[in-house]
Amino acid sequence: MAATGDSTCYDRKAELKAFDETKGGVKALVDAGIQEIPRIFIHQPEPLPKSSTPFEIPILDLGSTDRASTVEKIREASETLGFFQVVNHGIPVTVMNEVIQGVRRFHEQDVEVKKRFYTRDPSNAVVYHSNFDLYTSPAAAWRDTFYTFMAPSPPSPEELPEVCRDIQIEYSNHVMKLGGVLFGLISEALNLNPSHLSDLDCDKGLAFFGHYYPACPQPDLTMGATKHSDYGFLTVLLQDEVGGLQILNNNQWIDVPPTPGALVINIGDILQMMSNDKLKSVEHRVVAKEEGPRVSVACFFSTSLAPLTALYGPIKELVSDENPPRYRETTVHDYIQYSFYREVDGVSGLLHFKL
Ligand code: OGA
Ligand code: NI
Repeated sequence: MAATGDSTCYDRKAELKAFDETKGGVKALVDAGIQEIPRIFIHQPEPLPKSSTPFEIPILDLGSTDRASTVEKIREASETLGFFQVVNHGIPVTVMNEVIQGVRRFHEQDVEVKKRFYTRDPSNAVVYHSNFDLYTSPAAAWRDTFYTFMAPSPPSPEELPEVCRDIQIEYSNHVMKLGGVLFGLISEALNLNPSHLSDLDCDKGLAFFGHYYPACPQPDLTMGATKHSDYGFLTVLLQDEVGGLQILNNNQWIDVPPTPGALVINIGDILQMMSNDKLKSVEHRVVAKEEGPRVSVACFFSTSLAPLTALYGPIKELVSDENPPRYRETTVHDYIQYSFYREVDGVSGLLHFKL
């Protein structure tokens, strides 16, 4: 039998710790020329099949003057796939290319400089590590990440990594503006006043995640990112040309092939909760690949770990006697604490908040 991620077979904790303490992430393993992936990365085979028919993720033109049609398409996509793509979104292609290059520079910079950012302390201005859930997930993913909370209170520029700070700030500013547009459209898609979600501060907090998926010598044994849904309100994802992102639809995995110039948008758990399950926070993953590295930038609209007291739950305009609230209210902080730090088992954290 092949080695598995089953912790009863070996001292998994010790191997995780040894990997963590290298502070070099998955990239350092690849740079060292390993041909077989360490067993901490070996996943159980995924039972769900990949869709055999190609599936188009809708692409919305945000430059369109037909707002009603854009709102309708967003409603349709958000109620079913939970994902859509946008073009003419106002972020220049040069900025998109530069932020991908900036994230790549972060991960490919001098290891001794990069290691200074390695931490599991979420209060650091910049958190770089491999696998946020390294010690709790059944198997580690073939991915390194650094992240920063860029809004509402960004760190001072000097605290950001020198190799990418300017573009991190510039790109985040653009994404904040785009967020204003998207939350307006989504509010309308929910038949709410266009400023409703913004008035609830959904567009006020942004976390910038720079992911790096090194080339993998045994891609069939592991995953770039394990199946999950996103915790926050909304995610704006920029992926490079390598591909590998898949979303779950009707119990089949469908590819989200890179579309030049497009951004991938998906509904997060808290927005699903606020919409009383009208909008869907859909599970997705990234498969590991022999080619690489793959670089992506995921920007999460969320108030994240800040212990703000605002309560979120089904929006009262969206519930009725016939459609009673399905969730109890929670703060974003409590929701993320619960989802982030529990044993990750692929089951949405939303279930815990169901009434
Ligand atoms: C995420 C995510 C996908 C990607 O960061 O939550 O799903 O393509 N990322 O990196
Ligand atoms: Ni995600």
